[in-house]
Amino acid sequence: MRKKIIAGNWKMYKTTREAVQLAENLKKSLVNIKNTIVVLCPPFTSLFSVGQAIKNSTIKLGAQNIYYEKEGAYTGEISPLMIKDVGCQFVIIGHSERRKYFNETDAIINKKIKTALNFGLTPIFCVGETLDQREKGIAESTVISQVEKGLMDMNEEDVLKLVIAYEPVWAIGTGKTATPDVADGMHSVIRKSLSKLYSSDLSNNISILYGGSVKPDNIDALMSQENIDGALVGGASLDSAGFSRIVQFKK
Ligand code: 13P
Repeated sequence: MRKKIIAGNWKMYKTTREAVQLAENLKKSLVNIKNTIVVLCPPFTSLFSVGQAIKNSTIKLGAQNIYYEKEGAYTGEISPLMIKDVGCQFVIIGHSERRKYFNETDAIINKKIKTALNFGLTPIFCVGETLDQREKGIAESTVISQVEKGLMDMNEEDVLKLVIAYEPVWAIGTGKTATPDVADGMHSVIRKSLSKLYSSDLSNNISILYGGSVKPDNIDALMSQENIDGALVGGASLDSAGFSRIVQFKK
């Protein structure tokens, strides 16, 4: 059975006070959630406080990025050890905004995934094509190449520990969600490539989340698809009522 996961990526939003307020509201409204893993990924500055706010609940904490060294003279960077120290179990790696604005390459992402696993963190490894790549007919080959390069030199046992998020860049923050069929189709492509790289057992057991304009009014249709195991939610995760509804999707 693949795990169902709904993760909120708060991106560069919310002061610590606002973040704690949102976390406290979610802790109250999601008290009865049992079969879905809920992950909150606030900015670094709020990780500790949000971690305290969701203590004694089933909600998990995640960071939005890490550097691939444990410590050292890397001004401005945050290590996996540091996010573990404040209570993180998850970390988003290779988000398209990091690829685009901070020049993260597949090779850097591969290093970050390996380091996260070494520290016992669960990477949420993001892949997805741009609109230009989709229009050129290279959406599938782009995503397959991101999967292959991001997981370079990793064994089956390690890959089984991570979560993949398919986030088509053209659907992020645009209000344009991939239709459930399109999303499911790409998830199936990812599963096939994992099956080739590793085994069908691995590809059947890895959770693949969809991200890109997920909202309360489209989550049910997305979650009804065979290959979609959850969502990585941006804008709609900043509102407690909306995010609670997303977590309580109906299939
Ligand atoms: P939106 O839900 O705002 O489109 O963002 C998706 C995303 O990038 C989540 O990581």
